Amino acid sequence: MERLDKALVSTGRWSRREARELLKAGRVAVDGIVIRRGEEKIGESALMTVDGEILSHSRPTCIMLHKPAGLLSATEDRRQKTVVDLLPPELRKLGLFPVGRLDKDTEGLLLLTDDGALAHALLSPKKHVDKVYFVRVEGRLDRQDQDAFQKGMVLGDGTRCLPAELRLLADPGEGLVTLREGKYHQVKRRLAQRGKPVTYLNRLSMGPLSLDERLEKGAWRPLTSEEIAILWSNSTKNY
Ligand code: URA
Repeated sequence: MERLDKALVSTGRWSRREARELLKAGRVAVDGIVIRRGEEKIGESALMTVDGEILSHSRPTCIMLHKPAGLLSATEDRRQKTVVDLLPPELRKLGLFPVGRLDKDTEGLLLLTDDGALAHALLSPKKHVDKVYFVRVEGRLDRQDQDAFQKGMVLGDGTRCLPAELRLLADPGEGLVTLREGKYHQVKRRLAQRGKPVTYLNRLSMGPLSLDERLEKGAWRPLTSEEIAILWSNSTKNY
């Protein structure tokens, strides 16, 4: 038996506050009966609906997190805190994992999912899902840096990077980098090679999905079913 409010949150579609509001508004039913009390216990086989839509515990879940600096993009670590530590226990037990990694000191958009196929569709370079980063460097970014990014680069250890876009911003120490593949420390290593060490990095978007501006650092929200559908259609468009 599980509490109804926890069961709603564990679908990954609503935060605790949103689940409370749904219940209060009489939008949640169990086996056809509207239930407003989140403490109510429901069994595994109970049919839970919201606005008449059947919910299942087994549907893939995807959430958007505003990653703050200082946390590892991992599911667990013996010594350090991970992004999963930001989630409530109901979600932690779903086995969500980060879709790709942001470095410990990188901030911004991080998706977590339990859907391996979705993660693959978002990360595979063949699927053409662009990731856009805001970057600040020591020194000034210029046309030569832009050209180097556009040509594709070979890093010091022989790693070949696909062509990427560097857009210059009004502040010469800042730019927008668009990558299509997730090689380790790629933005930092490319810019270090250009002699412009990165001092701040923030992922703004993945494909059509931008970080929700209403999410404070450390906050998260479930993706809507429309957002998940858009991610899928965008990732397969060019495949
Ligand atoms: N490139 C980096 O160097 N770091 C990140 O966290 C993401 C992309």
